[in-house]
Amino acid sequence: MVRADARLQSTYARWMTATPPALDAAASNSLATDPERLAQLFGDDRGLLPLWIAEPYVDLAPAIVAALQTRSETPWYGYEVRPRALIDSFWEWMASRHGWDGTGLNTSVSPSVGTSIGVLIEELTDPGEGILLQPPVFTDFKPLITRANRIPVRSPLVLSDDGYRMDLDDLEAKAADATTKMMILCNPHNPVGRIWSSDELTEVAAICAKHDVFVIADEIHADLALPPFRFTPFASVATDSGVSWAATHGPIKTFGLAGVCDTLLVTGDDDVSKLFRTRSSQLHLTRNNVFGMAAFETGYRTGADWLDQLLALVASNVSLLRQGLPPGIEIIEPEGTYLAWVDFRGLGMDVPELARWLAGSAHLALSPGHWFGRQGAGFARMTIATPSEQIEDAITRLTDAVDAIGS
Ligand SMILES: Cc1ncc(COP(=O)(O)O)c(C=O)c1O
Repeated sequence: MVRADARLQSTYARWMTATPPALDAAASNSLATDPERLAQLFGDDRGLLPLWIAEPYVDLAPAIVAALQTRSETPWYGYEVRPRALIDSFWEWMASRHGWDGTGLNTSVSPSVGTSIGVLIEELTDPGEGILLQPPVFTDFKPLITRANRIPVRSPLVLSDDGYRMDLDDLEAKAADATTKMMILCNPHNPVGRIWSSDELTEVAAICAKHDVFVIADEIHADLALPPFRFTPFASVATDSGVSWAATHGPIKTFGLAGVCDTLLVTGDDDVSKLFRTRSSQLHLTRNNVFGMAAFETGYRTGADWLDQLLALVASNVSLLRQGLPPGIEIIEPEGTYLAWVDFRGLGMDVPELARWLAGSAHLALSPGHWFGRQGAGFARMTIATPSEQIEDAITRLTDAVDAIGS
């Protein structure tokens, strides 16, 4: 069996000894291990290793845990103001980690990325209008579009020997359609793990500016660039191009805080910011969460070292998969995110067969690729922000299941 790098083994000993609470159904209400949800999606196998949700399964940053404990000891859980320091902590983090200066940009609080995208779709497009997507892509985008009676316009990514690339000619042709009004850009891209380069983003901005297409850059995985790759904010190319845009951010993926924290919407467009804030206030979407606020600011102010270690763990898990997957299965090298996009096409299974085999034979709950669009057929997404022993376990399960094929 492939073993994790020895140095990392000791660094991450505490991450590798215990089952993280999120993977322990008895210890939490985690969606990842919810028996009903697992049965519905993967069948009734109790022994599934659940690596299908994009969240970290490691000990969370001790300073965040301590901040939540301290906050809970102050028995006041009512209405609170959101101090300016909260937004400042985000921008100080962005400046130091990504060299991104928020001067002149509007930053609004939003309960979730999905909320931000949903509100912008309603505010900036009309029913029947088209919204560009680049599948295979994060599963929530399509229902956000179709449930608002807008039309998903697909410009699929192309898989070449160099990994996934945008088809910019196709993107331009689709952006040029007068009914296409918006694009949802995923950067870093879930599930394929690309971090779009400044050149690629510049081309997208130019196309969308030319055809008056509003860009929502979903940058919620921004902090999860795997060195040497670096995240480029869409904002850095948008100003020169004249495109209208907004970007989603926040600590929920970075620090594993989806159950407690708000997210942010950043835009350089004052009118868009005003529309967003008016609608948020009309729908009372701005309610504070006292715990979320404590975790948010503590994460951005103190979480850098913890995040660096997490990224090293993810990189080590990528190596484990690269070296250890059995014949017929390989990973697409990620540049960012803590998700591995695993290519099972070498096994020659169709979509239902692969889904059945993964759950029923390999006993793995992964997100099957077709959930991300039909371009994902033959792939599956695996969460790899997890103790390396979980990845070793997944490799063993896959190896045993491959060995059992045809026997
Ligand atoms: C690219 C991307 N956007 C948005 C989300 C979800 O964000 P939220 O739960 O805040 O809507 C995820 C979660 O996996 C994601 O990967």
